[in-house]
Amino acid sequence: MAKIPIIDLKAQYKTIRKEVQQAIDEVLESQHFILGDVVERFESDAAAYLGAKHAVGVASGSDALLLSLMALGVGPGDAVIVPTFTFVATATAVARLGATPLFADIEPDSFLIGREQIEMLLAEKKTAARVKAIVPVHLFGRMCAMKEMSALGKKHRVKIVEDAAQSFGARDGGKSAGTLGDLGCYSFFPTKNLGGAGDAGLVATPDAALAAKIRLLRAHGEDTKYRHDVIGVNSRLDAIQAAVLAVKLRYVELWCAARRERAERYGKLFLDRKLPGSGLNSIPDAREPAHAFNYYVVRAERRDALKQHLAAAGIQAEIYYPTPLHLQPCFSYLGYRRGDFPVAEKAAAEVLALPLYPELTEVQQTAVVDSIAAFYRR
Ligand SMILES: Cc1ncc(COP(=O)(O)O)c(C=O)c1O
Repeated sequence: MAKIPIIDLKAQYKTIRKEVQQAIDEVLESQHFILGDVVERFESDAAAYLGAKHAVGVASGSDALLLSLMALGVGPGDAVIVPTFTFVATATAVARLGATPLFADIEPDSFLIGREQIEMLLAEKKTAARVKAIVPVHLFGRMCAMKEMSALGKKHRVKIVEDAAQSFGARDGGKSAGTLGDLGCYSFFPTKNLGGAGDAGLVATPDAALAAKIRLLRAHGEDTKYRHDVIGVNSRLDAIQAAVLAVKLRYVELWCAARRERAERYGKLFLDRKLPGSGLNSIPDAREPAHAFNYYVVRAERRDALKQHLAAAGIQAEIYYPTPLHLQPCFSYLGYRRGDFPVAEKAAAEVLALPLYPELTEVQQTAVVDSIAAFYRR
């Protein structure tokens, strides 16, 4: 294992071991594993933390997206706008429903989908008529410009489904990522800012009818026992996951603050070593209020060689994501080509995520930065 991993879940677990074990034990003693009090309590705690009207626990972030689009009635013949630079689940949720993912490029500085990229797609009348929803992805923990997204949604009469999988804890003007659109989708994959002991997810929405629909859809479309009003799926939030997440939710604000502090420290260390502009670029701004730093992603010249250099020094760095979705084999049927989205393609060749987690020490961060500085001095 790397001396400095990209994330150290064991370090975090050590600080909450007793509480987590007790919470799991309580579920085991109750032998009540499917929905019930523990899940409902977590849903209302999460809704309160996020400032969301309704929160529905589901089995994963991928299912949160799938169920949200199902609740909006997305299906064959429809199109949904998604950024090409994101995790694959953002777009497979669309494809799984028989609808078409309509890829958009990103902004070079933020790595996020922006108004211009979306307007370009909607400018074509025939395309616009098919678009049912836009999925802004708050990538790496940084929020998209939601005022612009909502305005676009209203103007073009399309729904906004926020992919907030990587941005639990991010806020803009006091409003949480995932609570500004029609629906917000969260992932509690273990490496997320709020991570479970396995897969889990959540959908937030201000709309009571959509919340009710998602509750129905996540449990086989079952309204009363063995009466199935709609065709649903099995995607309930597990009670054991809810119990673990409820414990961790109490710390998530502290953890996000610690992530931000470490991001700020990276920025200062990079400036000290005069790295920006001489190898390492696009240093994230830790003062950016709408950033929860699920990942600390920079652009690096000679990226792959730098990654190898760091690995040799026992430092784990990762590439999120090496291939934009329009070039993924699973989407080849859509007919996109290299060159279609140059900003995303350039990002994919340059991005590098450095170790970042609440327990990362100053000594460790200094070692990361010194190793990078040594690489660019060569
Ligand atoms: C941007 C994004 N969307 C969707 C997902 C899917 O979430 P999950 O892994 O919980 O299914 C993830 C996480 O893996 C993600 O990073």
